[in-house]
Amino acid sequence: MSETSTQKSVVLQTRQLTRYLGDGANRQLVLDALDLDLHAGQTCAVVGPSGCGKSTLLYLLGLLDRPNEGTIHVQNREMAAADDTARTAFRNEHIGFVFQFHFLLPEFTALENLLLPMRKLGRWGDEEMRERATELLTRFGLGDKVNRYTNQLSGGEQQRVAVARALANEPTLILADEPTGNLDTRNSNNVMELLQEAAHAYGPSILIVTHNPELAQACDRLLTMRDGRFESEQG
Ligand SMILES: Nc1ncnc2c1ncn2[C@@H]1O[C@H](COP(=O)(O)OP(=O)(O)OP(=O)(O)O)[C@@H](O)[C@H]1O
Ligand SMILES: [Mg+2]
Repeated sequence: MSETSTQKSVVLQTRQLTRYLGDGANRQLVLDALDLDLHAGQTCAVVGPSGCGKSTLLYLLGLLDRPNEGTIHVQNREMAAADDTARTAFRNEHIGFVFQFHFLLPEFTALENLLLPMRKLGRWGDEEMRERATELLTRFGLGDKVNRYTNQLSGGEQQRVAVARALANEPTLILADEPTGNLDTRNSNNVMELLQEAAHAYGPSILIVTHNPELAQACDRLLTMRDGRFESEQG
């Protein structure tokens, strides 16, 4: 592959990404000069022991925190040092999140939970947003439950709404932290399949932090992290 076509498919690139957390005697090097390239249309799992820095990495990549040193290029734009306004706008447009606890809004229906980020983005008209959201929820097996309040859905259903919501704006990067942490095997597999399907269907890059070895193996790439560094890579 030529240099240019390789660069084209890189959605996210970090160089020397470094983060210290804590104060005084508790100050700790949590991310140790990480270099990472994520590609379009790929799922990449990050595994590693508790405390090795996985969530810290996701916060940085999600532009929710800033590194002490190093760069983060998303779609060839340096975002680590960009101002807050630019980072927020970029995050809304390009980054989708799935967390272990789904953070759906219980006083809104499944459909409305998808409409909120879409409205914020303002790319589509009202009718189109509703159609897109309904279609997405239907693909996730929730076609008959779009108007249910999310606190009237099962845990697995809520997590599927959360994944659908992360996809609603067709982000170029999806960051998932233990997306199946609270689910049984069947629902975990289901969420994983939906993420893989999304990656291969319209080409976002998906980074998944997980303690679930099966889920990790199912990803296109598998990175192992220890003490704030990548130890090995498979795939
Ligand atoms: N706000 C903070 N202040 C100081 N240290 C912190 C802070 N947040 C996290 N840490 C430390 O940074 C390290 C990495 O934490 P992080 O949450 O990234 O781990 P993790 O790999 O996601 O672990 P887990 O698998 O348990 O979720 C840990 O040693 C943690 O104690
Ligand atoms: Mg964590």
